[in-house]
Amino acid sequence: MSTYDLALKRRSIRRFKNIPIPYEILERCVNAARLTPSGANLQPLEYVIIDDEQLLPEIFSMIRWAGYIRPAGNPPAGHQPMAYIVGLIKKGTKYEASSYFEAGLAAENIILVALEEGVGSCRVSTHDNDRLRELLNIPEDYNIMLTLALGYPDESPIVEEYKGSVKYWKDEDNVLHVPKRELKEILHRNKF
Ligand SMILES: Cc1cc2nc3c(=O)[nH]c(=O)nc-3n(C[C@H](O)[C@H](O)[C@H](O)COP(=O)(O)O)c2cc1C
Repeated sequence: MSTYDLALKRRSIRRFKNIPIPYEILERCVNAARLTPSGANLQPLEYVIIDDEQLLPEIFSMIRWAGYIRPAGNPPAGHQPMAYIVGLIKKGTKYEASSYFEAGLAAENIILVALEEGVGSCRVSTHDNDRLRELLNIPEDYNIMLTLALGYPDESPIVEEYKGSVKYWKDEDNVLHVPKRELKEILHRNKF
């Protein structure tokens, strides 16, 4: 599939198949992240891949899923992420203000490379980074910049035309609908 098609197809996935992701695929994702653009080529990001079945439920318990429809967007038992990738940046890194930008670029590489392998993902926020740090032995001098949940998709969210609300919803068949603003609304040529 072309990069364009992958970018259009990609949706955040919150319901996964109970199938392990080969470690090589996760490593491939991080390898793609390794080569993202980086301010002054400082390459500040480091990564932890988590696929240990003891750790997965611990991380799961720190995540808030799908805020607009809570708790309907929570991955049910047996459909939870099969891996996570956590991105870290050492505190005090030069150009620290760009850290989220660096993490965002890396995240999209991971997301698209995973999708090319049939692996879905969701960028998630963890509400207890102290616990996450302790669980993963992340040194105090690293900031946690990024957490991605991954697994083979067990849902197919649908893009909807934006009609005044950005809130996604689930229908009676449990299908997630995600409104997106139209191209003509967000694109300006030459001048705003
Ligand atoms: C910075 C950021 C934080 C997010 N945090 C969460 C989160 O904590 N939990 C969650 O379920 N989804 C989270 N998401 C996923 C968004 O809800 C999702 O991208 C949005 O609803 C649009 O859906 P789409 O990714 O399918 O296009 C986050 C996405 C981004 C970019």
